[in-house]
Amino acid sequence: MNIAIIGTGYVGLVTGTCFAESGNEVTCVDIDRARIESLRGGEVPFYEPGLAELVKRNLKEARLTFETEVGPAVAKSMITFITVGTPMDSSGAADLSAVFKAAEEVGKAVSGYHILVLKSTVPVGTSDKVEEIVARHAGDDFDVCSVPEFLKEGSAIEDFTRPDRVILGCQSERATAILRELHSAFVRTDNPILVMDRRSAELTKYACNSMLALRISFINEIANLCEAVGAEISHVRRGLSSDRRIGSHFLFPGIGYGGSCFPKDVQALIRTGRDYNLDFRLLQAAEAVNHKQKSLLVERVQGYFGADLKGRTLAIWGLAFKPRTDDMREAPSITVIESLLAAGAAIRVHDPESLANARRLFGDRISYHATNYDALAGADALLILTEWNEFRHPNFQRIRDALKQPVIFDGRNLYDPALMKALHFTYYSIGRRPI
Ligand SMILES: NC(=O)c1ccc[n+]([C@@H]2O[C@H](COP(=O)([O-])OP(=O)(O)OC[C@H]3O[C@@H](n4cnc5c(N)ncnc54)[C@H](O)[C@@H]3O)[C@@H](O)[C@H]2O)c1
Repeated sequence: MNIAIIGTGYVGLVTGTCFAESGNEVTCVDIDRARIESLRGGEVPFYEPGLAELVKRNLKEARLTFETEVGPAVAKSMITFITVGTPMDSSGAADLSAVFKAAEEVGKAVSGYHILVLKSTVPVGTSDKVEEIVARHAGDDFDVCSVPEFLKEGSAIEDFTRPDRVILGCQSERATAILRELHSAFVRTDNPILVMDRRSAELTKYACNSMLALRISFINEIANLCEAVGAEISHVRRGLSSDRRIGSHFLFPGIGYGGSCFPKDVQALIRTGRDYNLDFRLLQAAEAVNHKQKSLLVERVQGYFGADLKGRTLAIWGLAFKPRTDDMREAPSITVIESLLAAGAAIRVHDPESLANARRLFGDRISYHATNYDALAGADALLILTEWNEFRHPNFQRIRDALKQPVIFDGRNLYDPALMKALHFTYYSIGRRPI
């Protein structure tokens, strides 16, 4: 099939590349000319494991092309996927301006039957509005469908090609049949294709992200209670997650959720509830807990060194909102670093993939280091903010030698408190007694 993809971010580029990899001819479009130029040269402008290899292969075999104009890409395709960003606007709602602009361009370009798929995360009812926009320009020989995306950055290709399920929000049998065929390559192990109405599909995406955010805030509250009552979160977590009704995913305590999806999607669902006179108190609480959790580590640092951190230098390992991505959108590290800077500390950071993004955010207000050990030199303490695998088994002797004093504030519970004690570290983690 000939497919157009509008938006070449984490979702669009993975979607386009995986469809090309299964034999389709895909044109990816973006308004960002520099991005399209580098993609034409096989350079992926962000870090996603395995993606660069697939892009190069499909470029070489001419199944994947990159353009800056929507019109020609849509005109030669039967299906267009909109995968542009839907960031939070100042009121907490999803900003749909890029979606509507893309829809208008699609409407102007289609000739013959066309399926327009909304893959961006959009509030309930957006497909109806997009249908109106396309109809203004394109008559009625088209279908608008909602096919929300559930991939996770860091394992996006695996998630896209082996999804737990594919959701097709379709109003027509013709579009359902074509999209079912297109996705059949990815559901060969009995993972289901669920066909439903568009509004249900749109809402399912928000319900999933909100549920996962709830779980994170829940385990963080339980962790905080563990500290208060002298319990150990790793025991409680295991006891909890071995219950098959509950399961183990998204139940790790930490310094709060971030990223480009959970914060904005929780906000947008609260906002949708409000539009329909529904006060989403559960989600408001999840958000409030998350907000507070992001300041936990800073409170600990100030509890140890005093509120005024002038003259203190702190090393930070991990900046991305989670491992295996360079994405720092809404990362807790941003809140932590801004608070530490405001308290007067000097900051030395290392992240395996996010240093370029961090530099764009913080400029010369902090210093950047190519290895985790370089970041430690002369620091008063180490803070761990992202659970990259390479931080799990460090050389503790090198940490001790580089730090002025052996103090670690671990926001991701990477180390065994008993080992830390044996190595004479002062060690703070989440939901466990400090040692
Ligand atoms: N990132 C994720 O893990 C993830 C997972 C599931 C769903 N989503 C949802 O998918 C959508 C896209 O997310 P993302 O992280 O890929 O976004 P992103 O910000 O990484 O990429 C969006 C891209 O769209 C381009 N763009 C914007 N307007 C355009 C236009 N009019 N024409 C062409 N290109 C345009 C931008 O230049 C950018 O390259 C969002 O709605 C998001 O909520 C994201």
